[in-house]
Amino acid sequence: MSDPPVTVIRASPAEEADIRRRVREVDPASLGPDRVIATPAHAASLARMLADPRVSDPIYDLPRPITEASVRAWIEATAADQARGEAVLILSLDEAGEVAGYSRFSVWPDRSSAEIAGATRADRQNRGQGTAGAARSFGWMFEVLGVRLVGLTAALDNVRSARVIEAAGFRPMGERDSRRPDGTVRRSLYWEMTADEWRRVRDSREAPS
Ligand SMILES: CC(C)(COP(=O)(O)OP(=O)(O)OC[C@H]1O[C@@H](n2cnc3c(N)ncnc32)[C@H](O)[C@@H]1OP(=O)(O)O)[C@@H](O)C(=O)NCCC(=O)NCCS
Repeated sequence: MSDPPVTVIRASPAEEADIRRRVREVDPASLGPDRVIATPAHAASLARMLADPRVSDPIYDLPRPITEASVRAWIEATAADQARGEAVLILSLDEAGEVAGYSRFSVWPDRSSAEIAGATRADRQNRGQGTAGAARSFGWMFEVLGVRLVGLTAALDNVRSARVIEAAGFRPMGERDSRRPDGTVRRSLYWEMTADEWRRVRDSREAPS
């Protein structure tokens, strides 16, 4: 369970239906190579990755405790959410077919809004690939899911996340409380970006100098 953005947009019924359809029909390959929609068959490998505190500690909306059973239930719950057009759980796999990263997109179609939470396996962190990878995922939410607003949170001490989020052009909007699945609260840094802002940043970076 993730929290929707602070800013409230009201989508028209047609826009809401279009976003729900895009989420249901999403092609994971559009996010990058070796990406798949999570299925219960990935539960053991995903649980192994998430059990590493270097991967899961900074993330508030994971099932806890992290076990193969809790991760399987989370995969199944997200598949049900995807069937309603409200979430997608995409995994990246390594050469051995093991889970090497995940991105969970929460979508509020009636608000034309989305959030992403994700992590890279510990052996693939700190290689300087976070900024480009995150920017791709942010653009994907606007272009492929078709939302007009993305809200993002990060733990107050998550300097890497703050850096990749601000490098992509998100507006800092102070702090907010994030609710964990067990009901406890984590204080988070909070950012937003609209689709128009995203296009302006993208176009300015693509413009010839
Ligand atoms: C957050 C995460 C996706 C970033 O990916 P990554 O590949 O490890 O990140 P990078 O190595 O590209 O580092 C990201 C940026 O932080 C900077 N950075 C790294 N450590 C830093 C530190 N201690 N202080 C300041 N900046 C730091 C890097 O220089 C880089 O900035 P640059 O691109 O301008 O050089 C990854 O670390 C991860 O999965 N972490 C665990 C889960 C998590 O925090 N998820 C996000 C929840 S919001």
